[in-house]
Amino acid sequence: MFCLSMKKLLCVLPVLPVLANATVTYTVPASAATGATALDPAPVGLSFEFFAFPSYFKNVTATKQCLQNFETLTGKWPPIRIGGTTQDRASYDPNISAIVEYTVSASTDAPTALTFGPAFMTLAETYAGTVVLGLNRGHDNITNTIAAAKIAKSSMTNLLAIELGNEPEYWSGVQPIASGTWTPATDAASQDNWDIQVGQALSTQSIIQAGNSNSGPPTWGAAELIATENETAKSYVYDYAHHNYPGGTLTSLMSHSSISSNVGIFTADIAAAIGTGKEYVLGETNSVSGGGAADVSPAFGAALWTMDYVLRTSLANIKRAYFHHGTIGACYYCWWGRFDMGAPYYGAYAAVAALAGGSYISALDDGSTNYAVYIIYDSARKPLRALLYNSDYYAAGTGTRGSQSFVLQGLTAAASVKAKRLTAAGAGSRVDQGSNPTFGGQTFANVTCAIGGTEVFESTAVVTGGATFYGCCIRGVAFVFTMSVMLMSIWI
Ligand SMILES: *[C@@H]1O[C@H](CO)[C@@H](O)[C@H](O)[C@H]1NC(C)=O
Ligand SMILES: *[C@@H]1O[C@H](CO)[C@@H](O)[C@H](O)[C@H]1NC(C)=O
Ligand SMILES: *[C@@H]1O[C@H](CO)[C@@H](O)[C@H](O)[C@H]1NC(C)=O
Ligand SMILES: *[C@@H]1O[C@H](CO)[C@@H](O)[C@H](O)[C@H]1NC(C)=O
Ligand SMILES: *[C@@H]1O[C@H](CO)[C@@H](O)[C@H](O)[C@H]1NC(C)=O
Repeated sequence: MFCLSMKKLLCVLPVLPVLANATVTYTVPASAATGATALDPAPVGLSFEFFAFPSYFKNVTATKQCLQNFETLTGKWPPIRIGGTTQDRASYDPNISAIVEYTVSASTDAPTALTFGPAFMTLAETYAGTVVLGLNRGHDNITNTIAAAKIAKSSMTNLLAIELGNEPEYWSGVQPIASGTWTPATDAASQDNWDIQVGQALSTQSIIQAGNSNSGPPTWGAAELIATENETAKSYVYDYAHHNYPGGTLTSLMSHSSISSNVGIFTADIAAAIGTGKEYVLGETNSVSGGGAADVSPAFGAALWTMDYVLRTSLANIKRAYFHHGTIGACYYCWWGRFDMGAPYYGAYAAVAALAGGSYISALDDGSTNYAVYIIYDSARKPLRALLYNSDYYAAGTGTRGSQSFVLQGLTAAASVKAKRLTAAGAGSRVDQGSNPTFGGQTFANVTCAIGGTEVFESTAVVTGGATFYGCCIRGVAFVFTMSVMLMSIWI
């Protein structure tokens, strides 16, 4: 009876016949276990490629609203990081009035050299959230970098940290600082030296976001770097960052077990950072490196990856993940551009909605299957929401969709639950190809990023402490629920 009514409620989309009705059952704990991970109030961040940051903020209409939509959910503007390959091609010039100066032969090219002035930092200061600013180490001109760092420190009240160099493992034969031997050890010695010199020049401790490699640990990473740092170097570090682009096919990208094992790469580095009393973040990340892949990054499957990846990285005690936004008009993984929205924004939005106001997170699954269940707890350690994820792959128009039911037990405090669903026609759905995802029935407008449509909740009764959430109509399902003392509402 109950399941039938759920089917009626949720299977409203025209779908192919359902193959099987597999069920996974989980019990929601009454309160967060001791081992539950503490959440950052704004774990979903954005990274803007250094040279493109001014254009994103001054010339792309969607930027402000897309960021503000997250602030509306959490009360906090998402943290941003400004940096990338072009931070190590940039020279600071205190005498130019322009924000940034460079020439490129095509609008989709990244500049090979650029100059930025004090107005760059003034623009960054206008942002209401925190900013990590990436400065140049590759050029080996610490005088120039300290001059820029001093202006950043004096003009940006929102400055969280400064990076000294981006992805140094790729500098051999490219950057002056790496003209001799360049290994993880020489880079670490260079970082330690620069952390101390820049920190001392600013008379500020806990100011450097250190690390910033993309190649996987343990060769390049926080544990390797920390082992070289003495207490002086450590005192200037605010946090440790790594970059991550899992890549692969859309099927592997969105797979929950793949996401879990990919995040597992960082376990030892996270522990090493925590061992120093500092936070660990992904300073630059997205689906596929180099601006993304056309057949992967703009697709709904990448939105599902974004959503699950945010929850999984948060669970792993990665405090913030900064999703990279590169060259405008040449960026498959970007959440928005000048014209169209990108499907991944929907996944990011759903993740922000799931985590909003949460203090702790735990997972009820072990990360080994296609199905995920996360519980987000409030500051009193009581369950606030759940997010359910079915990562079975389905491409619209091919084969038959299966189905997956999630049964949640232990919902004793609630008489009914309310849910919001993140869905699309298939994993390959793209906004620019006319297939908009929806989250709780709503979409985001192209150009403005304004949320539109009527918010749809799916509700169901709790019968003897249990409720079934039926994933019949889609291949990627996210259910999120909010619980209050008397009523649990679930957002699917
Ligand atoms: C914004 O776009 C205009 C016209 O394309 C261009 O002249 C200007 O330099 C751009 N400004 C920024 C900050 O990118
Ligand atoms: C900036 O201008 C001052 C004089 O106003 C000059 O002394 C200085 O060398 C200039 N700096 C650069 C980097 O051009
Ligand atoms: C290094 O930076 C300083 C200060 O910005 C500048 O005067 C100098 O020319 C730079 N050196 C090189 C080799 O570019
Ligand atoms: C810490 O290491 C730096 C090099 O990274 C060195 O210059 C400094 O003397 C060391 N400080 C102490 C107190 O050992
Ligand atoms: C955004 O524009 C694309 C065309 O480029 C279109 O397919 C899509 O439906 C539009 N999205 C919305 C929400 O209007």
